Amino acid sequence: MVPYGQQDDQEVAWFTGSDPCWLPARRAARLATARTTLLGDDPVTAALGEDLRALAGPTGGPGPAEDDTTGRHLVVGTLERLTPEVLGTELTAALGSADVPAGEGFAVLARGGRVLLTAARPAGLRHGLGWLLRSQPGGWPAGDLVHVEEPRVDLRVLDHWDNMTDGPMGVVERGYAGDSIFFADGRVRTDAAALARVRDYARLVSSIGVNAVCLNNVNVHAAEAHLLDEHLDDVARVAAVLDAHGVRTLLSVDFSAPISLGGLDTADPLDERVAAWWAGVTKRVATTLPGFGGYVVKADSENRPGPHTYGRTHADGANCLAAALAPFDAVVFWRCFVYDCHQDWRDRSTDRARAAHDHFARLDGQFAPNAVLQVKNGPMDFQVREPVSPLLGALPRTGVAVEFQITQEYTGQQKHLCHLGQQWSEVLRFDLHAHGGGEPLRVADVAARSRRAGGAPTGVVGVANVGTDANWTGHALAQANLYAFGRLAWDPGLDPDLLLREWVEQTFELPADLAGELVEVMSRSWAVYESYTAPLGVGWMVRPGHHYGPDVDGYEYTPWGTYHFADRDGIGVDRTVATGTGYTAQYPAGWARVYEDVRTCPDELLLFFHHVPYSHVLAGGSTVVQHVYDTRFAGVEAVEESAATWERIAGHVPAATAENVRQRFAEQLRSAREWRDQVNTYFFRKSGVPDAAGRRIH
Ligand code: GCU
Repeated sequence: MVPYGQQDDQEVAWFTGSDPCWLPARRAARLATARTTLLGDDPVTAALGEDLRALAGPTGGPGPAEDDTTGRHLVVGTLERLTPEVLGTELTAALGSADVPAGEGFAVLARGGRVLLTAARPAGLRHGLGWLLRSQPGGWPAGDLVHVEEPRVDLRVLDHWDNMTDGPMGVVERGYAGDSIFFADGRVRTDAAALARVRDYARLVSSIGVNAVCLNNVNVHAAEAHLLDEHLDDVARVAAVLDAHGVRTLLSVDFSAPISLGGLDTADPLDERVAAWWAGVTKRVATTLPGFGGYVVKADSENRPGPHTYGRTHADGANCLAAALAPFDAVVFWRCFVYDCHQDWRDRSTDRARAAHDHFARLDGQFAPNAVLQVKNGPMDFQVREPVSPLLGALPRTGVAVEFQITQEYTGQQKHLCHLGQQWSEVLRFDLHAHGGGEPLRVADVAARSRRAGGAPTGVVGVANVGTDANWTGHALAQANLYAFGRLAWDPGLDPDLLLREWVEQTFELPADLAGELVEVMSRSWAVYESYTAPLGVGWMVRPGHHYGPDVDGYEYTPWGTYHFADRDGIGVDRTVATGTGYTAQYPAGWARVYEDVRTCPDELLLFFHHVPYSHVLAGGSTVVQHVYDTRFAGVEAVEESAATWERIAGHVPAATAENVRQRFAEQLRSAREWRDQVNTYFFRKSGVPDAAGRRIH
């Protein structure tokens, strides 16, 4: 075990060597000048004390000179540490009437210039500090208050797709923000600079409520398999930093590790030797890593090994690992992204959208209590528009986590501005039982089920979008996606526009009108991205492999199961029961009916569910083909407007940020024009239908 306090470098600074993101020191101007009493010697409280010192230190930026520190007193400690002596009469009385939540919630009480930050568990203190910095001017309540808050979701996880070595997809698979903050050159990064960066990251993500981070890619290659053995002590140094911020460490593991690492001749989950091997390894991992939270597994998916090799089910596979993890209060996140990636494009009977539900719904009830099925938000793969995965409504007796992609693989790769908070909020608010399908069941309810019913663990997972770039996310404004993810994972009911306002206010110091304009530009950016890329829910149309830029037929004749079936008459995938793949029947009755009928299917998903003629009239009034033309032209104009808005804002932000976003908008505009012209030309050439407005189509 490596205690947090024993890092090589005890430099006290607030955000070393990187842009401040949403926790600039100025947010803490008042907090930093308060006298502080820290109760407790656990790593989380110790790290919190370090934060407060850093905020007050020379590089952290002291509070304004006119601030009067006398009488301002902050007391920080978990409930069991609090005594009337240290609290004084007023805070003791206030505490007596406050209902401090168990678990990871927190309470902030202010009485006469004294503030108490408390929680049942140390992690709650971190979340409380985030709340103070976010919501109180200078990080300090202006008057007396009692604020109590707790997360609605238990597991709030960031999955890194980081590799230990550079590969065909870079060090970070689908990473658009530089290299890995955890790994380099086949090793875990344990130098002081790297650990300071991990500490900054831990500060950032714990301030928004994240409580677990998976360090390595779901695709576990030979090098990363050894995180479980030869690199374990180095992983422990990273885990210690995360743990001190209330963030647990997860590792992605290779299902065939009993063979590759253990020297067994099988990875059959029902073989006793395999179970014993996992139990032994897991014991070592759990007792070495501070705050170990469990494993992430991608099995029988995209050529990864899995239980099917041995004629076993996903439940057999997940339960084998769950048993090894159970003694350590750890869970296995078992991914449901399972489909046939060797499909023959001529085969019209196979529908990739069906795959996750077909594989997993029938296994409901067979999983161990500490197994969590990790389900992508849509049935395909993080497209700009997909319906909500019906599997999310089909696992009432199983732990479930909904998986979002923060890294913008199919949504502009952090070159385009595409704020996804709106998309995730829409998914989380989606009622799987609407239209007469039964009692309301929102995706947020599924993600928060354990809290409601005391049942299996549930959560929200996001594929992380950070790397070694100084601004963390490549595109400076893509930080807001990470921010929105953490806040929505904490409370899926939060308004995404409000979260944008929070992020803008914390990150920049803009005049109110410009802050409003920036929020507006970011708020509509998902819709704008959609309006110049693949239309009406059809998906893909991207360049194969790297997935950036348009290629309408790029995936049409490939084995990946991602087709749009355009011909001279029409386009779209028939997923109806009546004449198509039958996918609509995977939904509860209400949505099954709505999606099945071309007249009630929402416009934005029309081509996901139906193959229609180009002349089909949308509920919005235009024909499919005219809608495609109109929205592609409008999309490019909207990007032009957004870029112009940024020019008004640029003078009010740091020069590096101004330039970073300016350059990204230039690329977005170039790319959006390419999308517009290729998609429009494709539809025109296929259909022969000219644009009613007579605009230039090539
Ligand atoms: C997408 C992505 C892959 C990733 C996969 C997954 O297909 O392109 O890079 O491995 O999702 O989620 O497992």
